Amino acid sequence: MSGEIADPALLELQRHATMGRLLASVAHEMSAPLGAMLSNRDVELRLLDRIEQAAAGSEPAKVMELAAACRELARIDQLAGERISRLVRSVKIAARAADPVSRRVQLNEIVDSALDLAKTEFRSRIAVETDLESLPEVECQPHLLSQAILNLLTNAGQAIEGTGRITVGTRLEGDSVHIWVADTGRGIPPEDRQKVLKQAFTTKPLGVGTGLGLLIVRQIVTEAHGGSVSFESESGRGTTFHIRIPVRQKSKGDVPSA
Ligand SMILES: Nc1ncnc2c1ncn2[C@@H]1O[C@H](COP(=O)(O)OP(=O)(O)O)[C@@H](O)[C@H]1O
Ligand SMILES: [Mg+2]
Repeated sequence: MSGEIADPALLELQRHATMGRLLASVAHEMSAPLGAMLSNRDVELRLLDRIEQAAAGSEPAKVMELAAACRELARIDQLAGERISRLVRSVKIAARAADPVSRRVQLNEIVDSALDLAKTEFRSRIAVETDLESLPEVECQPHLLSQAILNLLTNAGQAIEGTGRITVGTRLEGDSVHIWVADTGRGIPPEDRQKVLKQAFTTKPLGVGTGLGLLIVRQIVTEAHGGSVSFESESGRGTTFHIRIPVRQKSKGDVPSA
């Protein structure tokens, strides 16, 4: 059993706000593959008519040619369907109801699904690179870690004006896993660095920022998982946030061994 968060209602509110914002871009992102599948279907039906005609007219070469065109469209449908189902799976992971029970999970899958959602907002503006090392299963509250990673990705995206790059990595370091999110954005000015993790603080206009994102990251990582959050930043060059959490949570009744 891992630690508890002082104000779970605030976390829940922030999660709903994030999901609300993301769903608009996720829906937009799904509309292209869905549109492709629907229009392919019309073409496929017409091709089938022509295949029937060619078969009735005993034109085997024509039948083969039309069947090959049908197969090519089915291949495109497959890719489009996979794209949609991947997004649906990522939404499910991030939107999963709060559940204060720790589970052993593949952390890289949580990172991947958070990235899938965040990328729908980045579009072609931001290039995303991943450097995910194979990890043992990590004992954590997956919906909370997903929220923390999404908060870091949102900040990274909002810090980049115009085009830029976000890199996300994971490493096993002794008994802990290290997740980092690096951006090539504007950086955090020295005078703000003391504030960002400690208090509700925002430099963003109403409707863009609430100042709660990093506060919640810190609560999720330190209070709920006994981990740590840190960052380094260079004005005008970018920022890297680091989350470290133990691979196994200390159980409540744990007595330090002699
Ligand atoms: N990756 C980043 N690059 C630059 N500034 C950042 C970054 N992450 C956070 N910040 C700064 O920290 C502030 C607090 O972040 P956060 O707690 O997520 O609140 P919000 O994003 O709603 O403003 C932001 O307003 C921004 O000024
Ligand atoms: Mg934020």
